Amino acid sequence: MRMVDLIEKKRDGLELTKEEIQFIINGYTNGSIPDYQVSAFTMAVFFNGMTETERAELTMAMVESGDQIDLSQIEGVKVDKHSTGGVGDTTTLVLGPLVAAVGVPVAKMSGRGLGHTGGTIDKLESVEGFHVEIENQEFIDLVNKNKIAVIGQSGNLTPADKKLYALRDVTATVDSIPLIASSIMSKKIAAGADAIVLDVKTGAGAFMKTLEDSRELARAMVRIGNNVGRRTMAIISDMSQPLGYAIGNSLEVKEAIDTLRGEGPEDLKELCLVLGSQMVYLAKKANSLQEARQLLEDAIKDGSALEKLKEFLSSQGGDASVVDDPSKLPQAKFILELEAKEDGYVKEIVADEIGTAAMLLGAGRATKESSIDLAVGLVLRKKIGDQVRKGESLATIYSNFENVEEVKDMLYKNITITSEPTKAPTLVYEEITE
Ligand code: URA
Ligand code: CA
Repeated sequence: MRMVDLIEKKRDGLELTKEEIQFIINGYTNGSIPDYQVSAFTMAVFFNGMTETERAELTMAMVESGDQIDLSQIEGVKVDKHSTGGVGDTTTLVLGPLVAAVGVPVAKMSGRGLGHTGGTIDKLESVEGFHVEIENQEFIDLVNKNKIAVIGQSGNLTPADKKLYALRDVTATVDSIPLIASSIMSKKIAAGADAIVLDVKTGAGAFMKTLEDSRELARAMVRIGNNVGRRTMAIISDMSQPLGYAIGNSLEVKEAIDTLRGEGPEDLKELCLVLGSQMVYLAKKANSLQEARQLLEDAIKDGSALEKLKEFLSSQGGDASVVDDPSKLPQAKFILELEAKEDGYVKEIVADEIGTAAMLLGAGRATKESSIDLAVGLVLRKKIGDQVRKGESLATIYSNFENVEEVKDMLYKNITITSEPTKAPTLVYEEITE
């Protein structure tokens, strides 16, 4: 087989076979096919797309390019949740203990990552003593015992995707639905998921800005999952404004604790119940979505979800007393209010710009090497549709430096107030199951 012939085939809009796709992915991973040929190939895919079969084969070729995590020693259906990324998305911190409390095994492999705030692991490390450097066997034993554990990303997962994603980034071929969908799905499958619940975000703060594009991405991922034998479904949810109120590491841990206690922000709680019901249902712990939702609501009401969080934290060395006393989490030196300059209604809160403001405070990493400040960030006091009076707080700024003028300017620019009453955006747009 010659790479040049496969580029030509895709350039001409023809369908590649499984063997041809494996040839490309294996050759790229081991270095025998150079970047320039793979660049031409990804550009051909960008223009001509891929069939459903090609997408499934590409995903599995990337899964097989590296290690695959074996979770077969864990009892039950291992359901993983994936979000396409947003601002202040605290759902993972809530969903883990919540679904574990009703018996769904949560075997989470997580990373630190770049972004407005840290990843799930960074957030959890705001709890004194909590660590994810555990052996594989201990991880498996913890999931069997407690139904939940988190381990740091280890091993050589989907090296083909790492290389390909980096290449796409510099060749203007990131925005291709087949390439995005196979990239995301390959990572979930390599991490051992039997079933997958996808939270595809839509709106200003999301990777996909329009409902149409989000729907197309969701469908592509759901089809790949189901075609390769992993039950997969997707929710499309709003990311025109940040989810919940808190954006920042320890601030989001506190928000997750509040939510598990039944006192969190309404939108965060609702999205967690929607995603959680799907997880419980796919894990076969309930016979319907309504029954699944009832189990989760009960776990919040009777305190078992909160107890599960304590058990999870202390099993991995964390000080679980933060759950009853969140003031033990890292605290910022300066707490400042962003006062509204006029009366009116909140019309817009541009999610990604608000995220960047949190990053300026030190809540996120700009490069892999930068360190993050777990104590800092923002807590919104108003969301879209809320009425506001001049002088009232729009947001609280938690900072470890006193001069936050730049952050304030950025927030004022991206929180719009109008005199006309406005409606809160739809939270969950649709559910995609095939
Ligand atoms: N996120 C991924 O993991 N891969 C893509 O291709 C795009 C977003
Ligand atoms: Ca939040």
